[in-house]
Amino acid sequence: MTRAGRLLAMSLSGALASCAGKQNALGGQGTEDANFILLFVVFLAVCALMYLIVLAGLTFARRRGRNADRTNSVDEGRHEQTSLRTRSALVIWTGLVTAGLTGLTVASFFADRSNARNTRRAGLMLTVTGNQWWWNVQYDTSDPSKSVRTANEIHLPVNVPVHVTLKSNDVIHSFWVPNVAGKQDLIPGRVTDVELLPTRTGIFRGQCAEFCGVQHSHMALDVIVEPLVDFQRWYAHQLSLAPTPATPLQIAGYRYVVSRECSSCHNIAGTPAGGQIAPDLTHVASRRSIAAGTLPLNRGNLYGWVADPQSQKPGNRMPTIGMDPKDIHAVVAYLETLK
Ligand code: CUA
Repeated sequence: MTRAGRLLAMSLSGALASCAGKQNALGGQGTEDANFILLFVVFLAVCALMYLIVLAGLTFARRRGRNADRTNSVDEGRHEQTSLRTRSALVIWTGLVTAGLTGLTVASFFADRSNARNTRRAGLMLTVTGNQWWWNVQYDTSDPSKSVRTANEIHLPVNVPVHVTLKSNDVIHSFWVPNVAGKQDLIPGRVTDVELLPTRTGIFRGQCAEFCGVQHSHMALDVIVEPLVDFQRWYAHQLSLAPTPATPLQIAGYRYVVSRECSSCHNIAGTPAGGQIAPDLTHVASRRSIAAGTLPLNRGNLYGWVADPQSQKPGNRMPTIGMDPKDIHAVVAYLETLK
């Protein structure tokens, strides 16, 4: 294989690997994404066909030009015949381009309409707020006591249309769950929205798709699409208050969290910790990851994060406060109870 061929193969396999599985714009696990894939295939086919026709035309014209040079004929009748052919070729080509462009416009229009149709029957309302560099997630209900607040993780029932209101507390972010739907910006001072209709269960990765500062790439979220009963079970659990700490170590951790710096930023329902500017921790131990998809949730990462968040995700808003090892130990033990 030539060097250029190897480079092409490498970049193609890299691009395909990067979009495989849980973060895949060609996954088609939502109606909007499926519409986009269909539209992509239609555009690709029409453009490829046009490209091939242009190439064939060019090859044909070059060959004819060469033949004409060779015979060097100045035959009048032949000249007239050629210009007639050129004219009909132009007419056919104009017709093809018009038909192609009209076809693409119509396909695009219907894809748009199909996506818009979901908005009229939303079964679930969410507000997602972008922050440097994490996602605040609020399930909106008419009864505020039934509303759930969480962070960096969204659970959705399969086949239920979801309306997501998007806001930002600082800079422009972009909400993107490629398996399910397209991107939508979150703009400070403005409200935008996106519709999701997941059609297959699974765990997908959402990613901020607009450069928003040094930790932009570590601004991800887990999207868990599950059967309705599992979603309802999850939701009911999220509504419950934080569990009461049981062991002396957990109680020491609890005391530290509710009386020290942690509580001024983090909320833990049912405790005096009521901060609203950082991720809600009421059920943090039930999530799959911490620090907006940066670290899988496990004891080691909790230790690392609590002890020195700045070394784990430099520049993030949680300061490294220099805790005593015994306090770190206690805080981690308490956080692990927040299932
Ligand atoms: Cu938020 Cu990039």
